[in-house]
Amino acid sequence: MDFPTWMAAIQARTESALERFLPPAAAAPGRLHEAMRYSALGGGKRVRPLLCHAAGEIFAADAARLDATACAVELMHAYSLVHDDLPCMDDDVLRRGKPTCHVEFDDATALLVGDALQTLAFQVLAEHGGTPAMIVLLAQASGSRGMAGGQAIDLAAVGKSLTVAELEFMHIHKTGALIRAAVLLGAHVGSADDKSLFALANFAGRVGLLFQVVDDILDADASTATLGKTAGKDAAQNKPTYVSLLGLGDAKRKAAELRSEAKSALTHFGDRARRLLELTDYIVDRQF
Ligand code: IPE
Ligand code: IPE
Ligand code: MG
Ligand code: MG
Ligand code: MG
Repeated sequence: MDFPTWMAAIQARTESALERFLPPAAAAPGRLHEAMRYSALGGGKRVRPLLCHAAGEIFAADAARLDATACAVELMHAYSLVHDDLPCMDDDVLRRGKPTCHVEFDDATALLVGDALQTLAFQVLAEHGGTPAMIVLLAQASGSRGMAGGQAIDLAAVGKSLTVAELEFMHIHKTGALIRAAVLLGAHVGSADDKSLFALANFAGRVGLLFQVVDDILDADASTATLGKTAGKDAAQNKPTYVSLLGLGDAKRKAAELRSEAKSALTHFGDRARRLLELTDYIVDRQF
């Protein structure tokens, strides 16, 4: 199967699994459920589910358990986007080509959507074979020492000039942590051995940072129509990014360097890492 076909298949499985896990809009409270579905379904590249499946496939992991595990990470990610867009954070009006959750609904609903998607993520993981170690992994990746902590650093950094090391610390937390969790959780579903987990943790660390470096580049270098979210927001809001710190050219060189470091971390797996290698290229070469 070629990469585009594989990717479309995982995206479709993810969509239908999310559809099953999310409460129906007809169930009370209907408006909250409608807003949860609005925020999690019908959009997004599903990069974290793709990474989770690609890692799991190395170890011939059970596909149904991978679906649920991938959905847990994607639900967590969808929550992070809804909160990231709120007026008290990035104050964005466009996400995945649609009005953001708080614009389509209201601020309080968007806050509750985030709360409810986060708890649903843990429920889905726990109900589908998530071990205590896996639940801890997702919790740490999402909390104050992971994504939420990275978001706190991001907000505190507005208008400040960070060093490259400080910027890297922020990116590794706000974006890298959940990407890392996606990879490692997929490997856990496949009962990966410690040596493999170590190699995958190295890979995921590089690819997580790479993902946000490319997000920074696209914010500066692509159009709102292509991105499905407002372009040029980082500069407008005075956010320190790889582009603001290094310039576009050096940011792109950094992405190229991280791409090759990420791929090198996969040599341990030989051909079995094919999907992860393809995904690494996709993460750099994507248009949105
Ligand atoms: C955007 O994530 C926010 C970041 C963590 C950089 P994605 O680029 O994965 O967004 P979707 O899920 O495809 O919309
Ligand atoms: C968001 O980073 C990271 C999250 C934890 C959601 P950004 O603020 O750069 O994400 P976009 O550009 O709005 O998608
Ligand atoms: Mg943000
Ligand atoms: Mg944002
Ligand atoms: Mg961004």
